[in-house]
Amino acid sequence: MARDHVLAIDQGTTSTRAVVYDNRLRTVGQGQAEVSPTYPKSGWVEHSAEAIVGSVGPLVTQALAEAGLGADRIAAIGLTNQRETTAIWDRRTGCAIAPALVWQDRRTAEFCEKHRDRQAWISERTGLVLDPYFSATKIAWLLENVPNARRRAEAGELAAGTVDSLLIWHLTGGLKHVTDVTNASRTLLMDLRTLRWADDLCDFFAVPRGILPEILPSSGEFGKTLGLDYLPDGLPILGVVGDQQASLVGQGCLHEGQAKCTYGTGAFLLVHTGSNVVPSTRGLITTLAATLGDGPPQYALEGSVFVAGAAVQWFRDGLKAVGAAPEIDELSLHADPSSGVLFIPALTGLGAPHWDPEARGTLFGLTRATSLADLARATLEGVAYQITDLIDAMNADLTSPLADLRVDGGMARSDPFLQFQSDLLGLPLRRSPQPESTALGAALLAGLAAGVWTDASTAVEHLQAGGQTFSPAKDSAWRTAASQRWQHAIETAKSYYR
Ligand code: G3P
Repeated sequence: MARDHVLAIDQGTTSTRAVVYDNRLRTVGQGQAEVSPTYPKSGWVEHSAEAIVGSVGPLVTQALAEAGLGADRIAAIGLTNQRETTAIWDRRTGCAIAPALVWQDRRTAEFCEKHRDRQAWISERTGLVLDPYFSATKIAWLLENVPNARRRAEAGELAAGTVDSLLIWHLTGGLKHVTDVTNASRTLLMDLRTLRWADDLCDFFAVPRGILPEILPSSGEFGKTLGLDYLPDGLPILGVVGDQQASLVGQGCLHEGQAKCTYGTGAFLLVHTGSNVVPSTRGLITTLAATLGDGPPQYALEGSVFVAGAAVQWFRDGLKAVGAAPEIDELSLHADPSSGVLFIPALTGLGAPHWDPEARGTLFGLTRATSLADLARATLEGVAYQITDLIDAMNADLTSPLADLRVDGGMARSDPFLQFQSDLLGLPLRRSPQPESTALGAALLAGLAAGVWTDASTAVEHLQAGGQTFSPAKDSAWRTAASQRWQHAIETAKSYYR
């Protein structure tokens, strides 16, 4: 039997998925389970590394069973992951020395604030902002705070990495300690141009160079399965990519100027900039896009907001205002459109373009008439407003403004939300016909390296046929008024928490 299928593993902030694709990139089997972070203190967000690793096997088994296939039909594994989340583990046992620190974790905000004067140097070298979001300060925190960790790291006993590295280590029986360029570009430790760990950055963050993985292109050889009870030995891992860069591929944004926004736990807007490193003057970050085998490095400009679907989760789980996330949509339709309620969803600080780790969620405009429906609507609108800040910043950084935007992720299922987003941006939005472009992107990269398909553009164009477009229905006067209200509110919120 031909090895003409690809297995994608997508390890995200709130769930793990395994998907089997056939040689036309159609989903033939899948499994998904929640893997929830914990919130031990204000601003702290952790994941059990064991739970992350342990989530994969049952889902792979489920996906293969649903596909009715044996692993002998799998040509390659593609892996995609929540980025920046950082674990440190024992090289001998594979056991993590502490919970992984999740990308949303803000515990290193003080260090970042203290070294604010190094921002220009850091952004020139890494394309990033000195913010707790990225991995370097998380590694340093673990080394400082877990007993004996620094001594053990310096003695070569420990390995550090993002979730891709952690999973590859376990998939390959501890033989491979590697990562890909997109994940490495989120650490604050990789030089954006040489694609290597930079000694001066490692020194600055007090991260011993020896605990870091080897950096590889996103499509190529990462290792082979070994010693698993759910897959045979020898299956190659041929695609590894951070989840937002994976969905850039899965959304068919392979060329300069193409942009997508994924509304997951956070919302992530990326525009492909080809082989150009485009620095931001407006608080965006410059990052690696998926880079193939021996091809030239590919770059993207990114705006990340930390809270998108997480605001809906808070509305459901924190406020217990609805029983299931999609109900917020229905509830919001009963809001008074002139209520004036506005919500800044800075529940874990503000990401791009504001970068304010101390900011907190803020509600404006409450009256005796304010209803839960008004809060539902303000919660959804607050997410959309954040994206307008990103688009404004992006248009200022790019030589030509974005003409349209491809969207996907949980919140993109909602028609009223996308219509409001399109109205606010004054841009057409194209909702992907693929409900899940992240796993698809990882599968595509792995399948390319395996030779299951030879041309990424054709495969993706075929998959992107269809989908629904939302066009702006409001005029520019409405947009200007909405934008002024938002800008005023966000500046007020930021100054309140300063
Ligand atoms: O940068 C964080 C991002 O990769 C997390 O994505 O889909 O797990 O919310 P997601």
